[in-house]
Amino acid sequence: MDRTCDRIYMDYACTSFPKPGEVIRAMTDYMTRIGSNVSRSSYETAYEAEEIVYDTRALLCELFHGPDARNVIFTKNITESLNVLLKGLLIPGDHVLVSAMEHNAVMRPLNQIAVELSDTAQGSREKEIIYTRIPCDAEGHLQIQEMEKLLRPSTRAVVMMTASNVSGTLMPVEEAGAFCRKHGLIFIVDSAQTAGAFPIDMEKLGIDALAFTGHKGLLGPQGIGGFILTDALAGQIDPLISGGTGSFSHTEQVPQILPDRFEAGTLNLPGIAGLGASLKFLKERGMDSILVHERQMTQEFLDRIQPLVQDGMLKIAGPESALERSAVVSVCPTALDPSDLAFRLESEYGIMTRVGLHCAPSAHRSLGTYPSGTVRFSFGWATREDEIETAAQALGEICGHC
Ligand code: ALA
Repeated sequence: MDRTCDRIYMDYACTSFPKPGEVIRAMTDYMTRIGSNVSRSSYETAYEAEEIVYDTRALLCELFHGPDARNVIFTKNITESLNVLLKGLLIPGDHVLVSAMEHNAVMRPLNQIAVELSDTAQGSREKEIIYTRIPCDAEGHLQIQEMEKLLRPSTRAVVMMTASNVSGTLMPVEEAGAFCRKHGLIFIVDSAQTAGAFPIDMEKLGIDALAFTGHKGLLGPQGIGGFILTDALAGQIDPLISGGTGSFSHTEQVPQILPDRFEAGTLNLPGIAGLGASLKFLKERGMDSILVHERQMTQEFLDRIQPLVQDGMLKIAGPESALERSAVVSVCPTALDPSDLAFRLESEYGIMTRVGLHCAPSAHRSLGTYPSGTVRFSFGWATREDEIETAAQALGEICGHC
């Protein structure tokens, strides 16, 4: 593990850093020794690359309890995955439910193809795709009891994140999955904020499509992500991108088989090699120990900044306990602009956070932090206790003297 020691990285929810050394070594090995494409040519290094890709699919399938390794589709990130799923699935007349905490990775593709159903417009909307937000409370908790009331005869899917990227609030994925099963709805889940620390079992949770990204909690490089979907759902999704796959070269039609149906063009092979290595690292270290560590760091930070909340210098967005959130703590200083706080944290203490609306205006509206936003601290596998102490102390010094 390499890390620059004069800075304190607290932006894991944006992207994880540092990466395990194994990731860098696997990517370098692919780039310097293997270098071949997959599914196209027939020589030793091409087979070796094939093996890396297959092993990475198998590790993802095992991690998320997907149906089969061939149901694991690679894309460049979760945003691309959600675009493929939403734009390929929904047709005019469909209605979708989304949580009011969603990030723009869901909201922007959705708003490109659908309109939000307002309370006043309840008529027939056969020619449009429509969506409704499931309300969330001021801590970001989904009001699951509202879901039943929001159902329409045309409701086809529920789209939900596993945790908010703003407040870390965990979403009731299990209950939402049961709701989808009961009502015959397709359940699409964005795992960006919890994959790599929290267990996510597609089968148990009734998830039909799980979007993932490699560069956050999965500790892989940027530019590699994907989704896992059931065979039943794959048949209902029109691929967004089509082209050469190295298979069925005699036909100019998109292949039906997985993963080829959704993987046109050359894959991000260095990215897959890196992700494969990070998944092995997570397996060896044990995700449960990472979760315990992240929870300890989060609780420690929450406890240390509690006096600032009591003194009215700071507000914390989201639940009080680390048990109800991912390793994310968003704060609003009461006497300082959030961007000034983030600037001072970085320039005076070397602490890197993310400030603003975090591409999630809907979440900030639910939390009551729109439009000023928050300063978000997010922790990960390599966060140390002394860093938490420094960050809490820095907050106290800045907010206490502003
Ligand atoms: N990358 C986005 C964030 O920082 C999701 O929260």
